[in-house]
Amino acid sequence: MSDAPHRVEELRAEIRLYDHHYYILDAPLIDDAGYDELWRELERLETEHPDLVTVDSPTQRVGAPVSELFSPVQHLRPLFSLDNAVSTDELEAWEQRMERMLGRSPEGYVCEPKVDGLAVVLTYREGVLEVAATRGSGEVGEDITANLRTLSSVPLRLLGDAPSLLEVRGEVYMTLDGFDELNRSRREAEQPTFANARNAAAGSVRQKDPTVTASRALEIWVYQAGVLEGGPSLRRHWEVLDYLQSLGLRVNPGSIPAPGLGEVKAYVKKMLDEHHRLPYQTDGVVVKVDSLADQDELGATARAPRWAVAYKFPPEERVTTLRGIQINIGRTGAATPFAVLEPVFVGGANVGMATLHNEDQVHQKDVRVGDRVVVRRAGDVIPEVVGPVLTPGKDRAPPWEMPKECPFCESPIERPEGEAVARCTRGLTCPSRLREWLFHFSSRGGMDIEGLGYKTVDMLLRDGTIKGPADVFFLGPEHFEERQGWKDKSIQNLLEGIDAARRRPLWRLLVALGIRHVGPGGARLITARYRSMDRIAAATEEDLAAIDGIGETIAGSVTEWMDDPDNRELLARLGEGRVSLADPEPAEEIPQTLSGLTLVVTGGLESMNRDGVQNAITARGGRAVSSVSSKTSALVAGASPGASKLAKAEQIGTPILTEEQFLSLLEQGPGGILPDRV
Ligand code: IVH
Repeated sequence: MSDAPHRVEELRAEIRLYDHHYYILDAPLIDDAGYDELWRELERLETEHPDLVTVDSPTQRVGAPVSELFSPVQHLRPLFSLDNAVSTDELEAWEQRMERMLGRSPEGYVCEPKVDGLAVVLTYREGVLEVAATRGSGEVGEDITANLRTLSSVPLRLLGDAPSLLEVRGEVYMTLDGFDELNRSRREAEQPTFANARNAAAGSVRQKDPTVTASRALEIWVYQAGVLEGGPSLRRHWEVLDYLQSLGLRVNPGSIPAPGLGEVKAYVKKMLDEHHRLPYQTDGVVVKVDSLADQDELGATARAPRWAVAYKFPPEERVTTLRGIQINIGRTGAATPFAVLEPVFVGGANVGMATLHNEDQVHQKDVRVGDRVVVRRAGDVIPEVVGPVLTPGKDRAPPWEMPKECPFCESPIERPEGEAVARCTRGLTCPSRLREWLFHFSSRGGMDIEGLGYKTVDMLLRDGTIKGPADVFFLGPEHFEERQGWKDKSIQNLLEGIDAARRRPLWRLLVALGIRHVGPGGARLITARYRSMDRIAAATEEDLAAIDGIGETIAGSVTEWMDDPDNRELLARLGEGRVSLADPEPAEEIPQTLSGLTLVVTGGLESMNRDGVQNAITARGGRAVSSVSSKTSALVAGASPGASKLAKAEQIGTPILTEEQFLSLLEQGPGGILPDRV
């Protein structure tokens, strides 16, 4: 009984350690049941001995009255802003300004992702979280302690030998998955959605009720020590980050030390390409001078330190005028509304059109012709209209309605009861549908016909040179000789591209045909089993559904397609056009070492290219899929692997294999390489 104070401290220390490994390092040390047991023991002891409850106990994240929410907090040191750079020229100008002040170049830099969230300041006294505040004016912020205590990645007590005083700055952000989930549930509850993850994070932190904050997917990265007393003396910002991490604070692993501006530029370039694959929103890179002595010498202007700069990515959201809403008919006949916009520079490109996804989205977002709208273009994602920006009192056009007739073939557009999309009822002879299908047919995901892009497809269809995919294989030089812009060389290239497509593996043809629900994964499974179009056409729905990985939906869709006389004729004509309708028989049976396994491959492998990897997997009875889930047997990580795939695999405990391990797996199967599945 007298042992309670001791045991309580012991339990707290143990739980803190497990929390740190789970929330900060993403590497759990204990299973859930073991953790729960400790937690329950601590709760029980604290209930029996209320006098032993302390504010830094892990049980006290929600509900501990500490200080008044949103009351003013004077920062120990003012928080500066950052000067911006938007080009490498501006980075160079920044370095030159510093060289003039120092009489030499700074001794190295640190580059950090600029996370787009909410700047916060945490103050730890004797290792215990005392107050958390917003940035506010930079001098005075608002108290958000009760809310930030609910974040599992904000330690209530620092680990190890804590300094007597630490004021640390960081960014609270919402994960993109958490953001999507939050908006989905708000949409369901008919509540207004958040425009982006930053707004959602800010809204979640500025809640009067900490349990609401606790329910949101918020996390923190810390990136700066404002005040440090009674700790080690550090000479570099990189050492500071290391130290903060050792105290159990969450430091972004994407940060790097950069010896010179060359490395800084390379980092910026890499992040410009890759930041969209991160599981959180970023709007740039922060570059800081590494040496703290250099930082001191450089000092600050009234607004911002001279030793740091924010390299801002091009804005990904802009406001512009919605000139009109039109529809496209896709290759399945689906009518997709799109916005015609007053052109605007966004996400690094001029955008004059943006998708509106489907009819319901137009109504849900309530965008109307003439509105000012937010347009978003992130990375290589298709630009989209996020929503209107309304001026109160201003007249608006009536809500948009789906046209009753297809603008391309004038057939009725219909939306069957209960379906999400409206479709042109004409079938494959609708010119828009045919064009989209042909474009899909020749695209890289389909038959991969070099030189047969959108414009050429459109031209050949318009003047009736071709009327369907099979006609492509009857094209000759005479079809191009008189055309403007076509030289002997470009004609020859196109014809060679078409000829090469005649010998594509059968799965590509199956995908290119555009059969509903049949993607590359399903097509590979089907062709691996049947090896020829004739045999696929002869298979029944049950035969197809008996293939591991093929469900009834795909099986039904394939047999339906094959039973259509028009499609049989198309296959026959492709054959006449000398398109291969069968895969060569394998020289010998390949051992099915991967049977029952589902693999995800990320990054480049040395021994084979993307197609080779897929073939190697399917030929051995395995499945190759593109995203990591609980069903994934292993993630194979090659050179420059995708960060979000790795993170996901680590999070859910999917084994991660090197190329070498993958090659052994192909050879021997999972024994001794993958853990036994329970
Ligand atoms: S350093 C003196 N580092 O960007 C340095 N700021 O104006 C002060 N931000 O709202 C900031 N990621 O919250 C720094 N790795 C990072 C950052 C970062 C995001 C935010 C910061 C502030 C704005 C800078």
